[in-house]
Amino acid sequence: MQSSHNLRINADRLWASLMEMAKIGGTPKGGCNRQALTAEDAEGRALFTRWCAASGCTMRVDRLGSMFARREGTEDLPPILIGSHLDTQPTGGKFDGVLGVLAGLELIRTLNETGIRTRRPIEIVNWTNEEGCRFAPAMLASAVHAGLITEAAALDTRDATGARLGDELVRHGQNGETPVGGRKIEAYLELHIEQGPILEAGGFDIGFVTSGQGLRWYDAIFRGFESHAGPTPMPNRRDALLGAARFIQQINEIGLAFAPDAVSTVGEMTVMPNSRNVIPGEVKLSVDIRHPEAATLAAMDARVRAAFADTLAASRLDGELIDISHSPSVPFDQGLLDIIRTESAALGFKGRNIVSGAGHDAVHIAKVAPAAMIFTPCKDGISHNEAEDILPEWAAAGANVLLRTALVLADRP
Ligand code: GLV
Ligand code: MN
Ligand code: MN
Repeated sequence: MQSSHNLRINADRLWASLMEMAKIGGTPKGGCNRQALTAEDAEGRALFTRWCAASGCTMRVDRLGSMFARREGTEDLPPILIGSHLDTQPTGGKFDGVLGVLAGLELIRTLNETGIRTRRPIEIVNWTNEEGCRFAPAMLASAVHAGLITEAAALDTRDATGARLGDELVRHGQNGETPVGGRKIEAYLELHIEQGPILEAGGFDIGFVTSGQGLRWYDAIFRGFESHAGPTPMPNRRDALLGAARFIQQINEIGLAFAPDAVSTVGEMTVMPNSRNVIPGEVKLSVDIRHPEAATLAAMDARVRAAFADTLAASRLDGELIDISHSPSVPFDQGLLDIIRTESAALGFKGRNIVSGAGHDAVHIAKVAPAAMIFTPCKDGISHNEAEDILPEWAAAGANVLLRTALVLADRP
């Protein structure tokens, strides 16, 4: 039996598993389209299930489809939970979320082949609907796990075509029986690519994620008056798309006004009736604003509401601004971060503190258990893009820090 001190994950096996998973929903440009609760997601889940079974884990699926693969400990204590998500954006990459789940699996494979038993059970989780692109909000299942959203509300969430999340769970056979949340977790660890440029640019191997920044999502609906593009004189028009353009411009200015840490994005828009010779009668669009500090995010929120009111008045429109989600800035657990720093240094890695720009399930789980995240670099900081890329050694470094941190935690009484 190898001593846990010298233990390393199998980097080639981890990379091969990442590439195997990436084939499911693989896109011509080298990315992935495995959106939550689609046939592709179900196929990815089936592969993960087979791998976990082959690794001797028992699998429990909760009522929102989140998957928990468990390797027993020598004592029946609350588990170390490790994971992330296997769902992707429509033009997503191969690593966002997937690295965190498959590094967890690789950790279990490594423990199995070296015969190491841990005191506490270790569980690998694949959270349902992290991305939020099909069903908003993002991080939905972990939000229910943390008691922030009710299970009934999550099941009633609908995608753009009106498909209900609860029905899609059943249709794809992903509705488990385990209650969502409500049990003690000793610690939660999530390994993830940075999705930004900081680690790579500074030559860092590992990011110690001190917090996740605050995030607000809205839907804005603008209603004008549909009419003929030919005979309707310019002064008579109530053009919902023209109003949306004014609003989008102002949303961009909000991100710039609170530089350098603020970001603001309109990423989605539906135009009705979307015909080239009809003045648009209705536009629905999404807004995403983020900042690490609560007070600044609140100031940005006030500016979004003011921009919306300005647009209605200036463009003679009606409409609604709907709050979709608010995920406040969350600090991660200091004790866990100290262990991650120590283990990273012991492996000879260069690390730095970093704030997460993206949302992660860890942000929600931090409300019900000590939680921490480990970041690895990502080429040119590109993510939510089919070109998202990492080096195998970056993945291995992160997985080895994850392994050693998990071993320290799993042997705690
Ligand atoms: C999730 O990927 C988010 O940060 O929006
Ligand atoms: Mn992710
Ligand atoms: Mn993502």
